[in-house]
Amino acid sequence: MKDLTYRSIEDHSNAVKQALENPESFWSKIAEGFHWHKKWDTTLEYDFNQPSVKWFLGGQLNITENCLDRHLTTHPDKTSLIFEPNDPSEAAQHISYRTLHQRVCRAANMLKANGAKKGDRICIYMPMVPELTIAVLACARIGAIHSVVFAGFSASALAARINDAHCSLLLTADGGFRGSKVTPLKEIADDALLNCPSINNTIVLKRTGQHVSWNKKDLWWHEEVEKASDVCPAEVMDSEDPLFILYTSGSTGKPKGMVHTCGGYMVYTAYSFQNVFQYQKGDVYWCTADIGWITGHSYIVYGPLIVGATTLMFEGVPSYPDYGRFWEVCAKHKVNQFYTAPTAIRALQKHPTELVTKHDLSSLRVLGSVGEPINEEAWHWYDKYVGKHECPIVDTWWQTETGGILITSLAGITPQKPTYATLPMPGIQVVLLDAEGNELAGEAEGILAISHPWPSIARTIWGDHKRYKNVYFSAYPGYYFPGDGALRDAKGNYRITGRVDDVVIVSGHNLGTAPIENALNEHELVVESAVVGFPHDVKGNALHAYVIVNSKIIDETKMTDELRSLVAQTIGPIAKPDRIQVVSGLPKTRSGKIMRRILRKLAAGEHGSLGDVSTLLNPEVVEEIKKNS
Ligand code: WT7
Repeated sequence: MKDLTYRSIEDHSNAVKQALENPESFWSKIAEGFHWHKKWDTTLEYDFNQPSVKWFLGGQLNITENCLDRHLTTHPDKTSLIFEPNDPSEAAQHISYRTLHQRVCRAANMLKANGAKKGDRICIYMPMVPELTIAVLACARIGAIHSVVFAGFSASALAARINDAHCSLLLTADGGFRGSKVTPLKEIADDALLNCPSINNTIVLKRTGQHVSWNKKDLWWHEEVEKASDVCPAEVMDSEDPLFILYTSGSTGKPKGMVHTCGGYMVYTAYSFQNVFQYQKGDVYWCTADIGWITGHSYIVYGPLIVGATTLMFEGVPSYPDYGRFWEVCAKHKVNQFYTAPTAIRALQKHPTELVTKHDLSSLRVLGSVGEPINEEAWHWYDKYVGKHECPIVDTWWQTETGGILITSLAGITPQKPTYATLPMPGIQVVLLDAEGNELAGEAEGILAISHPWPSIARTIWGDHKRYKNVYFSAYPGYYFPGDGALRDAKGNYRITGRVDDVVIVSGHNLGTAPIENALNEHELVVESAVVGFPHDVKGNALHAYVIVNSKIIDETKMTDELRSLVAQTIGPIAKPDRIQVVSGLPKTRSGKIMRRILRKLAAGEHGSLGDVSTLLNPEVVEEIKKNS
């Protein structure tokens, strides 16, 4: 593969310049480094007003040939995947590119034998084991659209996602190990499937060996792959054919199925992976995310495999068997690049530093952060104890929708600045807007927007192009609007200040407040609710729910317990509110809109800075909430 790496700050600034002058020739040159069955005719066609974005039109490819086949001629025996199990006493696995290729082909044939074909949607609800990566790539091999659902989601969240995309197959496991817990995935899936008529078969991987109930549509993974051949020619895909759907939460109750396509996603994930982490031949790279999120898709699976890297996949959690597990794994596998989330760093920071210092972390060269703003204290702890002041930290800003990292420093190449994601990647045209949509110049604070498409921008929301337009292209016409605020320093570095919509980032997880409110409102005692985020020293943000109840005499402890489990059942345990406060009313405008801005301030304890509340329909509830919080 052609070397895509910028090796100096001059390389970076030249690239920025070239990309600005002629974006199409810039991206075209990068795309030439990949394996295409047919070269594209047109590099880019777009119209942000439609909106419509198409890259490398007429080009044909299969991303798995770029992830796997291509490496078989150059380094078949190199480790593609290192699997580190939840339990440190279970042996790690090193899977070569040759073996991964064979296993993906076998799994692809297993999918075909069970009726899957190009364009079908396949839901994957699996723990972090090698078969999850294999399942993802097997779908891509045959041109089926994968929809990975994080294995921490509830039955109803799983069902909603399966139904939204009309998935025909479900790939799951008997259970999953996570720390000292076992998640009964098959049982949850069985529950979900009571309401999913589109699923023809469920293929079940045996991981925990726990008892599972068996239905006539169920098949064992190990029995099915046994029957399958390991020869599976890759389906030739058009550049703009969908590769996958991944759901993310939005401001309304329904999750958004972001659609990513084959060509542009391939080009951008490889380009960004290589440049941000400065991966070198022989390095071991570890991203601690789950493949259920975009970080895992782009930077555990696709980006690293396309460039032929060794990518580590960890089944467990940072606290098991103790809070030193991350560092033990880094030392054990001599990890060179380590990519994690601020919430994990803040959790680990609370424990004795000896849990870090007793491990040999001398292999580490690059540290990364993703998912939410990294606060100063966490940044310095990461830098001092993990990086020993010798590893550049890349603070990478991006989204499920962007497919890849858009704002970041390049490790050791461009300057870092604590709490700043720093500069846009070459090829990414970032602007700051004021509330009226005017571009701000120089040092400024405003709304983050992007003025030109990049190859891995999500093309639509599955089944709802109108919503795609409304959410991302309507507030500021002519721009992609990510929903974040930011400030820019005199050198052009960006610092992300947080969401400007009703999405709260809790422990790096993107949670819409609307679905949580809907879940709370299901409770027989709840009349109305409003959920907002408030700052939390480990999770970044936590949730505060204000609820109006329809009875004076209630057992509040019982009700709040019930509300929490209702949210856990409907969405997943990550969405449980930390605080539930019973109120007699919610602050509303005269038109009846809940003033979330005021609730956010109240939840944060900023009682002094509420602004003028006299124009509210019911200013008295503000006093009441203050008094009782
Ligand atoms: C939202 C996207 C990117 C993959 C994981 C999350 C926040 C993400 C950063 C960062 C400040 C960040 C933003 C963004 N965010 N990375 N480095 N600094 N904020 O993907 O679930 O789609 O969430 O996460 O608010 O919009 P996601």
